[in-house]
Amino acid sequence: MWGTKRFLVAFQAVSSTLVANAQLTLPNTTFLPPNISTGAQPSSGGSPNPKWSSLLGNLLYFYDEQRSGTLPSTNRVPWRNDSLIDEGRDQGMDLSGGYYDAGDYSKFTFPLSFALMSICWGATDFGKGYDLANQTAYLDATLRWGLDWLIKAHPDDNTLVVMIEAQHDNYWGGDRSIPSPRPVYKITAAQPGTDAAAGAAAAFAACSNLYANRAFAHTSFNAPASLKNESYADTLLSHGKSLYSFAVNATGGRKTYQTSVPQVESAYGSSAYGDELSMAALFLAFATNQQSYYQDAETDYTKYDLAHNNRVFNWDSKTPGVAVLFSQVLQANSGLGGNFSTWQQKAEDYFDNILNNGEYTDDGLLYYDGDSDDASLNPALNVAMLMERFAPIASSRDKTSSYTSFAKRQIDYVLGKNSMNVPYIVGLNPNSPRNPHSAMASGGFDVGKIDTDPVNEAYVLYGAVVGGPDKRGRFFDIRSDWSQTEVALDYNAPMLTLAASHVITESSDPFYITLQAGAYDKVKPQGHPCDAVFRDGCNGGNLGKNVIIAMAVILTVVGLVVLGLSVWYILLLKRSRQEKMA
Ligand SMILES: *[C@@H]1O[C@H](CO)[C@@H](O)[C@H](O)[C@H]1NC(C)=O
Ligand SMILES: *[C@@H]1O[C@H](CO)[C@@H](O)[C@H](O)[C@H]1NC(C)=O
Ligand SMILES: *[C@@H]1O[C@H](CO)[C@@H](O)[C@H](O)[C@H]1NC(C)=O
Ligand SMILES: *[C@@H]1O[C@H](CO)[C@@H](O)[C@H](O)[C@H]1NC(C)=O
Ligand SMILES: *[C@@H]1O[C@H](CO)[C@@H](O)[C@H](O)[C@H]1NC(C)=O
Ligand SMILES: *[C@@H]1O[C@H](CO)[C@@H](O)[C@H](O)[C@H]1NC(C)=O
Ligand SMILES: *[C@@H]1O[C@H](CO)[C@@H](O)[C@H](O)[C@H]1NC(C)=O
Repeated sequence: MWGTKRFLVAFQAVSSTLVANAQLTLPNTTFLPPNISTGAQPSSGGSPNPKWSSLLGNLLYFYDEQRSGTLPSTNRVPWRNDSLIDEGRDQGMDLSGGYYDAGDYSKFTFPLSFALMSICWGATDFGKGYDLANQTAYLDATLRWGLDWLIKAHPDDNTLVVMIEAQHDNYWGGDRSIPSPRPVYKITAAQPGTDAAAGAAAAFAACSNLYANRAFAHTSFNAPASLKNESYADTLLSHGKSLYSFAVNATGGRKTYQTSVPQVESAYGSSAYGDELSMAALFLAFATNQQSYYQDAETDYTKYDLAHNNRVFNWDSKTPGVAVLFSQVLQANSGLGGNFSTWQQKAEDYFDNILNNGEYTDDGLLYYDGDSDDASLNPALNVAMLMERFAPIASSRDKTSSYTSFAKRQIDYVLGKNSMNVPYIVGLNPNSPRNPHSAMASGGFDVGKIDTDPVNEAYVLYGAVVGGPDKRGRFFDIRSDWSQTEVALDYNAPMLTLAASHVITESSDPFYITLQAGAYDKVKPQGHPCDAVFRDGCNGGNLGKNVIIAMAVILTVVGLVVLGLSVWYILLLKRSRQEKMA
């Protein structure tokens, strides 16, 4: 019964120093997610606001829940067990550890790299929020759990493991019987993947900046979270440089990684690699102060026509963030040779286009047809995060304030100011989702009965940001509907950065505090969703623009046919009358 013992250890760990291999010492009082009912109780406010602080804590706690490998003595999640501790051994590698990507047990390097890059970048700009909330030691532990695995996945200059696949037999169950050994897929000199290598390089370089305490500009941004460790920063930087060279100069040429590893295509195929190259080069330029990296970043932006591939910011598509990062890097270091206002202008063009032409669900979530049909919150949160960061270096006060208020509206939406009264983070408030698509939290062992067995999920997956509502703003909380209820490493990343920022700036409680138990049940939708999983709920309600255009075309065609037939009939009548008269 050591599962029970672990439970006690986690909850009694209030007086030990809990030093784990070289990480920052965790706080004397272990942070655990507060009782859900406290998510509907106002605080007495103040700065830092305790509710924003615990929100940040919950969001980080999610990564503890997703851990793979041998859990440390400081494990805070009582229901998690060691898992797959021999991962990779059959291939002669040590690939134990790291994180499960989402609701099943796969490990994916490409989205992991994006999430780590995003978290490190955010903790560089809004690090004071982690410090004020006493979350910096947990941030350190979270980052190292990912980065130390990424280091193992990069055993030599020209090898990077890109996927360890959950078995094909659709395993849905707990963490003690995950089928193994599992297939390991990697890119190599002859079979490279420019995007995956450059994406990992960007993560290493961004996190190296954080661990080196290299702030962008003290006037506009706060100091990085205080977890400085120069030797770790150096280790990360050397992996970043090596992976960048691999991306740029692999003997097999430049190509998307699914060209070499087709097995990744269905889950995380990449649309292009120019954005990852440019972003990696920029983070490296900032880390090393070398103009050659900076020149590469500008050259790639033009060469790969990134200006015209500028829609969402996510694990696949980084261009909107590239213009923001150019602005930050040049503002902090004009010696690199670029023109700050050129990049500031590009970032503002992107943001202003969203403010002027963005499309929304009826209840106000920024919505991209197609990109938002699955996990709708993610594109909106990523835009909000970029705007929040860029706002202080915008070219006018008006822009600063419109970017900040746009970000705030999207944050409020995610925290429950929506037509469903649902804060889209598990375990935060009585109205939070209860059926996240997560094999390990569900407690079920039969994928065929995923929605009903068990009726209530066995464990609360505290802190997990779920996919989000459908395009009509409706949320159904169905376990099998991965489009709305799945969780993932990259879904939490932008919310972490936004929460850290609000710990610094906001003394009033986050929106969800106003939502009392039962608020969702009162407005819970009937029928079925309209999203990437369910199509039956797509009829009725507000029709998408494409549907309206299609219907207009059909009506026009039908109208023309009717008109044509009428004319023909009249002519026919006339002719027969003339014939009769003749
Ligand atoms: C810095 O990190 C390295 C690598 O993890 C570790 O060996 C070292 O003890 C850390 N130094 C401090 C002062 O924490
Ligand atoms: C935490 O515990 C350590 C060792 O028991 C002690 O030295 C330190 O003062 C404590 N810190 C706080 C803030 O209580
Ligand atoms: C959470 O709080 C509620 C209401 O105060 C209480 O009934 C419940 O037992 C608490 N749950 C836990 C796990 O402490
Ligand atoms: C952080 O820790 C300090 C020292 O233990 C404490 O005074 C403060 O209230 C804590 N802040 C939060 C938000 O937990
Ligand atoms: C971890 O192990 C305990 C007891 O052995 C079990 O009850 C629990 O469900 C396991 N957790 C998961 C996520 O499978
Ligand atoms: C790529 O190879 C060229 C030619 O050997 C070399 O000059 C350049 O520095 C390499 N680029 C990187 C990023 O390693
Ligand atoms: C930077 O670009 C702006 C236009 O975006 C231009 O007005 C300005 O002269 C340029 N500055 C330098 C130093 O080239």
